[in-house]
Amino acid sequence: MEKKLTYVLIGAGHRGKRYTENAYRHGGYQLVGIAEPDTKTREYMRNLYHIPPENCFASYHELLAKGKIADFCMICTQDRLHYDPAMQAISQGYPLLLEKPVAPTPEACVAIRDAAEAKHVPVVICHVLRYTPFARTVRKLIDEGELGRIVNIIHFEGVGNIHYAHSFVRGAWHNTADSSMMLLAKSCHDIDLLQWLLQSQCTKVQSFGSLTYFRKENCPPGAPRRCTEGCPHEALCPYSAVKIYCDFPFDEGGWLAPCHPDGARYSREETIRWLNETNYGTCVFQGDNDVVDHQTVNLEYENGETAVFTMSPFDFGGRRIHIMGTKGELISTDFNTIELFTYCDEDPCSDRFGHSRRATIKTSALTIGQSISAGHGGGDVGIMQDLYDLLAEGKQSASLSDIRTSVANHLTVFAAERSRLSGGKTAVLENGWNLL
Ligand SMILES: NC(=O)c1ccc[n+]([C@@H]2O[C@H](COP(=O)([O-])OP(=O)(O)OC[C@H]3O[C@@H](n4cnc5c(N)ncnc54)[C@H](O)[C@@H]3O)[C@@H](O)[C@H]2O)c1
Repeated sequence: MEKKLTYVLIGAGHRGKRYTENAYRHGGYQLVGIAEPDTKTREYMRNLYHIPPENCFASYHELLAKGKIADFCMICTQDRLHYDPAMQAISQGYPLLLEKPVAPTPEACVAIRDAAEAKHVPVVICHVLRYTPFARTVRKLIDEGELGRIVNIIHFEGVGNIHYAHSFVRGAWHNTADSSMMLLAKSCHDIDLLQWLLQSQCTKVQSFGSLTYFRKENCPPGAPRRCTEGCPHEALCPYSAVKIYCDFPFDEGGWLAPCHPDGARYSREETIRWLNETNYGTCVFQGDNDVVDHQTVNLEYENGETAVFTMSPFDFGGRRIHIMGTKGELISTDFNTIELFTYCDEDPCSDRFGHSRRATIKTSALTIGQSISAGHGGGDVGIMQDLYDLLAEGKQSASLSDIRTSVANHLTVFAAERSRLSGGKTAVLENGWNLL
């Protein structure tokens, strides 16, 4: 790589570490500063990436107080800690790689957008789905007119029951006030993807959903508050924390398991202690989780297209999409294999879609349920490639989005949530939104 792009990292948790691994795999990046309060993690990163000690801090305040010391800044703190470091970094002229969601309120998203535009700094949001081989192939097929004009899309995000329980019942995103509502925390990727595939802005949105299952009234009789306290239902409960974190080999390449900063897994004894001290040991029916466990969104776009999106954890995990156009349809049940059923203008026998033209395209070697351990279907690698091309070489890929578009798609999410909370009234998006 001719040019090394230097960057500072704010928040070296799961995502910060993952992007940094991919940045070094790419070869064109160098980490020159870090802000991370966990001392062991900070030291681990400092040693591994040879970061100058004078650029290693416990918080972003001290790191950003040094002024602009790198080509860009990567912000991977938790949802409620994006706004402040993002605004400070932008004011210093840092281009940003900013984790989604941009911020937890529409006002904060708009403020980040306006500050970035005023300062002319690019802000790339980690909507990693756009950067997967799968999504790039689908978008190319659409751009090449393979399906004609797209009329509607049915899109499903299966979170997977164990992933949902881990992140949205017990984990960092279980409570809206502490993090984000579900649609923002998880499915802002999907709302963004729909706009990107359609290349049309959402104008109306309506949503329904609630927390149905992971509630106290569904708790089996006699279950203790913590799964480690001898639960009589352990053998048959799929959500037993003891089985998930100690015994059950569900663990998709290790992302669920508690680990030390260097990636080494906790011993059984350490895991039990962790289960006794954190939410991860709590019975899934007795926590303080309040985010929805199913949600549907109806969307209408500026060119008249419509889409239906559903998020559910009551599945084995993975996304599925069905795109319908005037010349054909596209179906994928694993975000890897694309089934195309199209119409051929030149063939007099081609009376219905797929009659004479049918194709199957494999876009990567992923299998169902691997989306996280395999780096979000290749999106974690793809975004580092496109970011390098943008910042080092000034090349804009089709996947990259400007902050205006990312924030518009976040506003669609906020409008959908407002609709859900209003009992399903339609929200109209024009310079913001109104509920009809
Ligand atoms: N793009 C995606 O597909 C995707 C996937 C998962 C998570 N995320 C998002 O990425 C973000 C980070 O998620 P995560 O799972 O890595 O969380 P995490 O909790 O593992 O990491 C956050 C890190 O920020 C650090 N931190 C806290 N206060 C800080 C401060 N003042 N200064 C600097 N660092 C500080 C924490 O110590 C922690 O290491 C979240 O916003 C999450 O929603 C995105």
